[in-house]
Amino acid sequence: MTTFSGSRFESKTALISGGASGIGLATAKRMIADGATVWIADIQDELGESVAEEIGATYVHLDVVNESEWISVVELIASQGQGLHFVMNNAGIAVNGNLETETTDGFMRTININLLGVFLGCKVCAPLMEVSGGGAIVNVSSIYGMVSSSKVIAYSASKGGVRTMTKSIALDLAERETGIRVNSIHPGFAETPLVENAIAQLEPEEGEQFSARLAERALLGLADPDQIAAAAVFLFSDDSSFMTGSELVVDGGFTAS
Ligand SMILES: NC(=O)c1ccc[n+]([C@@H]2O[C@H](COP(=O)([O-])OP(=O)(O)OC[C@H]3O[C@@H](n4cnc5c(N)ncnc54)[C@H](O)[C@@H]3O)[C@@H](O)[C@H]2O)c1
Repeated sequence: MTTFSGSRFESKTALISGGASGIGLATAKRMIADGATVWIADIQDELGESVAEEIGATYVHLDVVNESEWISVVELIASQGQGLHFVMNNAGIAVNGNLETETTDGFMRTININLLGVFLGCKVCAPLMEVSGGGAIVNVSSIYGMVSSSKVIAYSASKGGVRTMTKSIALDLAERETGIRVNSIHPGFAETPLVENAIAQLEPEEGEQFSARLAERALLGLADPDQIAAAAVFLFSDDSSFMTGSELVVDGGFTAS
């Protein structure tokens, strides 16, 4: 892992949903190393508490589908008096399913967590971010928000929604001169529990097909979550000050051909 430390996010506060694990946790570590005060929000309370203590963040319980929990979390952050500058809408699930196997309940669960959760994160956090002087939101989509596979119908629907909804929110917040930039990132396959679980759901033959597709298209192999976090941190930083409503693909070449 790259070593880094700095102060560019000093006096700034960040909230990362799904921050107890994987890409969210890797981003939390980078933000802290750059001076930010970081809140990680998740439903895995035990894990969240323990990693927060380890990395110097504050953990808070948040189910991203629950608007009143979002409101409580934002009120708690506001009560600290340091404002809110960065939000990463990163919490997500990946459940395999196609037209034959996906159910209405399963479809809606994925849409609720992966898409409604991002909407609520933007809606509830933006007012506090605006009065804090503006900042940046990073919505975590996927390569499956741009291309797809036959077995990720709900996941792809949710991530495609995140991609274009991000543009709508970016335009809205720019038109209202809030000082908040909003962009999406589109990771390829990274080594996290989410991917391990999705692979574990496959039948042996499907697993072989998946491995073959990866070998053909994931030119740089699987990402370390920190390689995705680096892109998120770029979108929080002033280095991306002219970017809003854009989509940053971080996929080791997966969608290039
Ligand atoms: N790992 C990849 O290859 C990959 C690729 C593209 C996109 N993504 C996206 O990156 C994001 C992070 O995934 P990850 O790979 O780090 O997986 P992960 O499983 O390590 O982390 C996801 C976190 O989200 C949390 N979460 C799930 N449902 C939640 C809810 N309702 N409320 C709050 N938190 C909830 C989980 O508890 C977990 O800690 C997801 O949105 C995922 O779709 C991941």
